[in-house]
Amino acid sequence: MVHVCRKEHFNAAHKLWNPNWSEEKNKEVFGPCANVNWHGHNFELIVTVKGLPDPETGFVVDLKDLSKLIKELIIDKVDHKNLNLDVDFMTGKMASCENLVIEFWKILAPAVNAIVPHGSLHKLTLYETPRNFVEYYGEGA
Ligand code: NI
Repeated sequence: MVHVCRKEHFNAAHKLWNPNWSEEKNKEVFGPCANVNWHGHNFELIVTVKGLPDPETGFVVDLKDLSKLIKELIIDKVDHKNLNLDVDFMTGKMASCENLVIEFWKILAPAVNAIVPHGSLHKLTLYETPRNFVEYYGEGA
């Protein structure tokens, strides 16, 4: 199996805030991410596909097609948006990287799998900062 990766970029605003907690506790747990008037991050999303090269193309996946899918299904919905207020699939959820990547997977997996003839979506990696990132391998992983 070969792993093929495509990196896409978006920037978005959010706030991490648990309404059941005091302001002090929110600031203690979430630090600058609890800023009342929002703040932004430069996110990097890396989509990793696993599979065997197609005999006719030599590709596991056509990266042009993969990039187009990621842009249409994810980037267009989150780029320059407020993750708490503007993004339908994040309604009612804490706007953390963990929750984002789980929702991204639900949206991307069926569409990505449909364009990978001999493989499937393997991993999503989401960077919130150059030092903080999450990895997700789908449900049960
Ligand atoms: Ni933040």
